[in-house]
Amino acid sequence: MPDKTIRAVKGMRDLLPPETALWNFVEAAVRDVFRAYNFHEIRTPIFEETQLFARAVGEETDVVSKEMYTWEDRARAESEKGQSLTLRPENTAGTVRAYIEHKLWERGLNKLYYIGPQFRRERPQKGRYRQFYQIGAEVIGSASAGSESPARDAEVLELLATLLDRLGIENWTLQLNSVGCPNDRAAYNEALRKALEPVVTTMCTDCQRRAVTNPLRVFDCKVPADQPIIDKLPRITQYLDEPCRIHFEQVKNILKSVGVEFHENDRLVRGLDYYTRTAFEFTHGALGAQNAILGGGRYDGLSESLGGPNAPGIGFAIGEDRLVLALKESAEAVQRKPDVYIAPLGAGMDREAARLARELRRHDIIADLGDETFRLKKSFDAASKLGARFILIVGENEVKADSFALKNLSSGEQLSVPRAELAQKIQSGS
Ligand code: HAM
Repeated sequence: MPDKTIRAVKGMRDLLPPETALWNFVEAAVRDVFRAYNFHEIRTPIFEETQLFARAVGEETDVVSKEMYTWEDRARAESEKGQSLTLRPENTAGTVRAYIEHKLWERGLNKLYYIGPQFRRERPQKGRYRQFYQIGAEVIGSASAGSESPARDAEVLELLATLLDRLGIENWTLQLNSVGCPNDRAAYNEALRKALEPVVTTMCTDCQRRAVTNPLRVFDCKVPADQPIIDKLPRITQYLDEPCRIHFEQVKNILKSVGVEFHENDRLVRGLDYYTRTAFEFTHGALGAQNAILGGGRYDGLSESLGGPNAPGIGFAIGEDRLVLALKESAEAVQRKPDVYIAPLGAGMDREAARLARELRRHDIIADLGDETFRLKKSFDAASKLGARFILIVGENEVKADSFALKNLSSGEQLSVPRAELAQKIQSGS
């Protein structure tokens, strides 16, 4: 290719057929499942004020400190400074902002879902992109409406198990932990700082900073040399207060009684600061290094920290790119091939073919169209390249008789079918 060819920006990618059929299949299936659990769709803006993410996700997280696409918007007047804006790196902050801004509790809207692109400036690799898609859901509401209840956590986790099963994704593992609440966090941070003190100088520079500003974030470290040190650190589960401990026990008990298997992982703290109590990820073996197909958890103080009412919440986001990777083998199977290729044969036949195509498509038949200048052989080649089930010949004799040659391309059988019977014949497939 010449040097001047413009290509997609690093970390961005085009989604092409037949894979897009798989994306549509996934999205249709999740919308069905969300409906069954009474979730409603929300669409929030692609960018927000930078402050929203800094406050919700946390300044010390990798997402906020390293990965956001942030820019200063043009100022309205020369004397003013432009507003700092950021492409959304995740959608919980935007959803909770919208919940507060539109007082959604007054409309009883407390179960929301979204499907859309998110942006993080990470190093691209298989399963990790700079524009990626999340399918997420949030249950937010007043504590009196039960949104704090362990039953909500279990319901969300059971929904996810149902969804993955429905999509035919096997071999997933639910990793479950509790990261406690601000009550537990003070004592735990203290213990972590103490444990880190003698070893922190041997750790990476990020960990050295985290140890001071936000020690829990040390668990996000991916540097191999730091892992043996991190493995020996005290765990948050040892510091849970009584209400948090009971909440976690109840979540696990409900999961056991509905038959959703889980694996307790006390290293799992998730990379975002808003989490309290239940935190989880579903991992999938076939995905390699980026094996988290989804992640989520509870965020009981988030609404207040954004200036909203007390509104405990829990939610998750599935990485749709990764979900599709786990399903990829079946892309061809999901893509619907044309039912019929309409082949006009000779001058004036484009018009007749267009009429027929219009009639057939109204019957939900997928029809593709040739061109009257094509020789018959070229039309047959085009039809088989598209994988059409039938070819329909539209020549002068057929038009006169109002009956058309319809050939089944796999069996080779050819019949003359009157116009009025065409749709039924094609739909019946023989
Ligand atoms: P998260 O763990 O940062 O959580 O992201 C959720 C999922 O998005 C990940 O498990 C992964 O599948 C996918 N993902 C993240 N980054 C990338 C990337 N660069 N490329 C491809 N996929 C990616 C959140 O975003 C939270 N907002 C989830 C949540 C909702 N918690 C409560 N409610």
